[in-house]
Amino acid sequence: MRRRLATTTLTGLAAVLLLAACAAPEAAEEADGRDIALSEVEQNASAESCWVAIDGDVYDLTEWIPQHPGGADRIEALCGTDGTAQFEGQHGGQGGPESQLEEFRIGELAD
Ligand code: HEM
Repeated sequence: MRRRLATTTLTGLAAVLLLAACAAPEAAEEADGRDIALSEVEQNASAESCWVAIDGDVYDLTEWIPQHPGGADRIEALCGTDGTAQFEGQHGGQGGPESQLEEFRIGELAD
């Protein structure tokens, strides 16, 4: 009886582990965000809600506006637009700005 209980517990544990392993890639995908159309980015074109598309990804830079070392106006000018050229022109290849950007990623720019 005791042995059976142990077997059942172990089987249950294995099932839970298997489920967790299967669910993990899905969670990682969710962390990747969702597809966002440029038209939706364009609806977030103010300092109150500032989304910017850069190199095929979309970022919510609202919180970053007052923190940008290069000035709030530089970021505000990009709200609601595809700012790839401006970002690359200023910061292309710089690790700091690129990793900073990652913190604000909310999704991928839909085709
Ligand atoms: C759109 C996303 C942007 C992010 C996440 C970003 C991020 C950053 C970061 C992290 C720094 C500090 C770099 C360091 O000290 O190593 C910085 C500095 C700077 N950024 Fe940006 N930046 C962005 C866009 C822009 C744009 C579009 C411009 C100009 C058109 C710009 C102009 C500058 C300038 C001039 C500095 C240097 C400020 C100083 O050292 O006094 N940035 N940015």
